Amino acid sequence: LEVDASWNLSRKIPDTLFGLFFEEINHAGAGGIWAELVSNRGFEAGGPHTPSNIDPWSIIGDESSIYVTTDCSSCFSQNIVALRMEILCDNCPASGVGIYNPGFWGMNIEEGKAYNLVMYIRSLESVELTASLTCSDGLQNLASVSVQGIDLSNWTKIELQLLPEGTCRTSRLELTSMRKGIIWFDQVSLMPSDTYKGHGFRKELLYMLLELRPQFLRFPGGCFVEGDWLRNAFRWRETIGPWEQRPGHFGDVWNYWTDDGLGYYEFLQLSEDLGASPIWVFNVGISHHDEVDTTIIEPFVKDVLDSLEFARGSAESTWGSVRAAMGHPERFPLKYVAIGNEDCEKEFYRGNYLKFYDAIHKAYPDIQMISNCDGSSRPLAHPADLYDFHVYTSAANLFIMKNKFDRTSRIGPKVFVSEYAVNEQRDAGKGSLLASLAEAAFLTGLEKNSDVVQMASYAPLFVNDNDRTWNPDAIVFNSWQQYGTPSYWMQTYFRESSGSIVNFGPNAVNFTISSRGLQAGVNTAKSTVTVLTSGNLLDENSFSEPNKVVPVKSELPDASEEMEAVLAPYSFTSFDLALDQYSKLVAEMFPTKCAN
Ligand code: AHR
Repeated sequence: LEVDASWNLSRKIPDTLFGLFFEEINHAGAGGIWAELVSNRGFEAGGPHTPSNIDPWSIIGDESSIYVTTDCSSCFSQNIVALRMEILCDNCPASGVGIYNPGFWGMNIEEGKAYNLVMYIRSLESVELTASLTCSDGLQNLASVSVQGIDLSNWTKIELQLLPEGTCRTSRLELTSMRKGIIWFDQVSLMPSDTYKGHGFRKELLYMLLELRPQFLRFPGGCFVEGDWLRNAFRWRETIGPWEQRPGHFGDVWNYWTDDGLGYYEFLQLSEDLGASPIWVFNVGISHHDEVDTTIIEPFVKDVLDSLEFARGSAESTWGSVRAAMGHPERFPLKYVAIGNEDCEKEFYRGNYLKFYDAIHKAYPDIQMISNCDGSSRPLAHPADLYDFHVYTSAANLFIMKNKFDRTSRIGPKVFVSEYAVNEQRDAGKGSLLASLAEAAFLTGLEKNSDVVQMASYAPLFVNDNDRTWNPDAIVFNSWQQYGTPSYWMQTYFRESSGSIVNFGPNAVNFTISSRGLQAGVNTAKSTVTVLTSGNLLDENSFSEPNKVVPVKSELPDASEEMEAVLAPYSFTSFDLALDQYSKLVAEMFPTKCAN
């Protein structure tokens, strides 16, 4: 292997090359990186018809002691459903009757942490209510606070803090009373007080993203952006402003409700917290099963222009002022938008695309626009700065596809490989070494072609182990644990070094690395080799063995400009030579080999 580091022969890899694609899939956001512990906090998940389905809220008590239903008496006009709880018993059980919410497959409540409870209550009677965090189906109490002596005749916001005296990974929030009467509830939220920078993100998951040092964040989908039907698509406007006023929506492609606590503003904030450039994928009036004709697309275009003003407008502008009121007077540096997701073949895509493209180009000439149409084999039929390329395939195919962009046209739009992964079940399982090796090979091909490939992101990013809708994924979590699949660890290589090497075969490979044009001497003490491999090609990580397939870094004592190296069978290796001027001087003064 010959490496020539002379500046005149090398080419800089674009700063944007490796980033993240976040989609609300597999409960990645709701019940995932968004730290809200209550699921269906506004009782809206069953839709606006009452009585509505309040799942996963359930009742504590029996038919003779409590009657729970929903009505449209909320103080919030956009999410009008409220829960009406009528306590029927004169002599209620000492533990009270009421309702509980188990969160997303059980709440992780930890001793030593504080949990902020916010809820809206109304009652015409004098109320004695207890809010508790409990474990073991309510048998073990972790924390309790009570509400009493307050005039609740109008909707009242109640804010309390719970300090648990015990840890339980499958806790629930209980709201109980022993006093006969009627209480209405709405917008019940329970947040750990220690979210990342107080921004609402679950810290451990955010740290895993920071480890990847992403250069961009594409959000919020994927198919989630489109919806199976337009009525269920992501509508940014309904996801901003005070959380209590957000209607939430049913993501019909991945089949779950989200309260939209993680909304458009939070995605922009997440990008900022990660130091990543935001890439806003918006709906172009097209879902999986219905489309808006180009002749009537204008209101959708206007809606997207408003979203750009929300991100980039001054704090005095109409939408910029909404952003400022949410706590971010500074503009978000939104420089990329993707016009739809996987919609190229749809009847109205091209017409709609051009309407969005022209309007955005006129209002924000610096914004780079990403088309859904694949320009890798034939020129696009419309203007674009980048085109989107998605690939999910077998390990063998993806390995071969490392050459995919070798002969792609260098004229015209650049490439954004915004979704790639080995997903064939027998190769990938829930995230195998084999999958990660093929993906690594593919990425080395993207690095090589990074004059035309500007960005790449693995997909999907997250999976809650309780909702494995899509396998494999980069990061697996439940209410309290998380680990990276080999595909996650593979990505960590590319954050700091380029030119890593994949051995996709069953035999070790011996070879010589000759480096020329280095700017300084090789520092053997600081040079390292990092290897990702395992005993079996289909090995995976798990909650019980999170570190089965992870990179192992060791010193490279033989590091030099000319060195012998070995690649283990089925492995991914990066050789990182540390350079410094001092080493160069020592090498010149004390040569290790004598010239006879
Ligand atoms: O990553 C999962 C899905 O795959 C995305 O939602 C979609 O864009 C692609 O088809």
